[in-house]
Amino acid sequence: MNRFAILFSGRGSNLEAILDHWDDPSHVEETAASIPVLALSNRPDAGGISKARARGLETRVVDHRAFENRAAFEDALCDELARAEVTWIVCAGFMRVLTPHFVRRFEGRILNTHPALLPLFPGTDGPAQALAAGVKVSGCSVHFVDEGVDTGPIIAQSVVPVLRSDTPDSLGARIRGVEHTLYPRAIARVLAGGYRREGDHVHLEGHALDGP
Ligand code: GRF
Repeated sequence: MNRFAILFSGRGSNLEAILDHWDDPSHVEETAASIPVLALSNRPDAGGISKARARGLETRVVDHRAFENRAAFEDALCDELARAEVTWIVCAGFMRVLTPHFVRRFEGRILNTHPALLPLFPGTDGPAQALAAGVKVSGCSVHFVDEGVDTGPIIAQSVVPVLRSDTPDSLGARIRGVEHTLYPRAIARVLAGGYRREGDHVHLEGHALDGP
């Protein structure tokens, strides 16, 4: 059984979608292979904290501002992860870059969702970057985390239209709409072992993730 932690920094709508997915008995075939055991925020004011607690998930805050440097912050994260016997990490709006040291420790076992069609528009403000570039579609990308920023192997993507009237907020909200379906499904599939990795390419087994 894979035990995963959800790392987040803010609103926590993806965290909520993930927990709802695991709570829904109709998904048990894929979710049975893994269990969310810990919600971990680096911000004490993150909206996701109350969402995780409301669902009965153990929730901890490791405030990065309390540490002298990234290494000390990540050591504290690792202490929490070890205590909860976490085997996989799921980033959901976690706004701290993880150092190579941390990434190597969980090599191939960290997932993230990014609000753009990678490899386009990595980093912050995916929706704003898409609007500035004038692209007509954008979306979200679920990927493995490697030592770069949003550069790891892509697992799954969903596409949304970019409208002329869009602002970064409206596009970001539309992207989150598809993310809330795709990300939980992708996490469940990967943690159930339903994928093959060939170098930088990931092949999912079974039915498509972004269908009805
Ligand atoms: C999501 O759009 C995700 O792609 C990005 O941060 C956002 C987090 O939103 N990494 P939320 O906190 O899950 O609502």
